[in-house]
Amino acid sequence: MQAVILVGGQGTRLRPLTLTVPKPMLPLMNRPFLEFQIELCRRHGIKEIVLSTAYKPEVFSSYFGDGGGLGVKLTCVTEDEPLDTCGAVKNVERHITDTFLVFNGDVLTDIDLASLIDFHRAKGGKATLYLTRVEDPTAYGLVPLDRTGRITEFLEKPSWDQVVTDLINAGTYVLEPELLERVPEGECFSFERQLFPGMLEDGIPMYGFPSEAYWMDIGTPAKYLQAHYDILRRMMPFDFRGEMIRPSVWAEEGSEISPDAAIFGPTVIGPGCRIAAHATVSSNCVLGPGCEIDEGAHLEGAVLHAECRVGAESVLRRCALAAGVRVGERVHISEQAVLGGGVVVEEENDLKCGIKVWPRANIPASTLHF
Ligand code: GDD
Ligand code: MG
Repeated sequence: MQAVILVGGQGTRLRPLTLTVPKPMLPLMNRPFLEFQIELCRRHGIKEIVLSTAYKPEVFSSYFGDGGGLGVKLTCVTEDEPLDTCGAVKNVERHITDTFLVFNGDVLTDIDLASLIDFHRAKGGKATLYLTRVEDPTAYGLVPLDRTGRITEFLEKPSWDQVVTDLINAGTYVLEPELLERVPEGECFSFERQLFPGMLEDGIPMYGFPSEAYWMDIGTPAKYLQAHYDILRRMMPFDFRGEMIRPSVWAEEGSEISPDAAIFGPTVIGPGCRIAAHATVSSNCVLGPGCEIDEGAHLEGAVLHAECRVGAESVLRRCALAAGVRVGERVHISEQAVLGGGVVVEEENDLKCGIKVWPRANIPASTLHF
């Protein structure tokens, strides 16, 4: 079976991280997120994958090439203009030969694809949607079912007064290729607002496959951080690299960790990191390659991409730093603050409340003392 992965969105809710790196290529546990999805496919014997790109397409092709490095055959197809979710699949129709899978390129899951595909075949519908349960369905596509598992409605981003179930579209579909005959060529067309509601109107059978498998859309700062914490807490299978130097603390090669630093798990320290004396790297941290943590700094729930530096006595909690961020001394960063690539924060600043700092900005030393 073939799979199409949609990776053309701009990832606006994850800016500024996505201003330099497209969302599916953002590091998750120090690996490009897309590797998780490709690996899921490969594990289930799906080795022919089409990447549907639009935003920063070259980043995908230059990293993955033909997919050989990951044991799959990868074809990248780029839209001249973004065609929306379903238009993007129509645009790769020439590569599709049979029943196929579609993935949103920002969903972390360990769904058993084999049972999803078996269910599709057993029900005999034209489309089967993987469904998951969430507390707040208003940010997703709401999918009520009848007693037989048939989809009765598809409501994208419903308001609370439309919410009649906690089941939502998990962003993975099994589709029959003839459905693409319903999609105009070269035009914007949406699965969620056009294809699925249109199929229901015309009485074409569509089924939902609710699953309790781990599921997370990594598309907002809170969810992006949470995906790291969940993997660190082993809610998703993950092959930790490097050596376990303390309980649940994995350090990759070339890291220099002072014997006077305090490191608590679960935490991952990428290759070539340096952690100075009296620094504390507490639970839920992921340090990218070549990060440097100076004396007396304190990190907890911090996700740092490659080559970040954290100055002495700075405190970082629940935040994400893109590659090459420089943080001066005695800076506080917390509460889902997100710093873009190459940002410089000079000493004694306090960044919180979900603040987003655009790439390469320079925040001068604060005059406020705390
Ligand atoms: N190639 C291409 N072209 N890809 C696109 C385009 C486009 O024009 N627009 C969006 N995509 C890709 C994005 O890169 C992403 O991987 C996927 O389509 C879904 O877009 P999001 O922007 O992440 O959608 P969402 O999270 O608001 O909602 C979707 O996912 C939810 C589950 O996470 C919908 O499918 C909801 O119904 C669903 O519940
Ligand atoms: Mg999404």
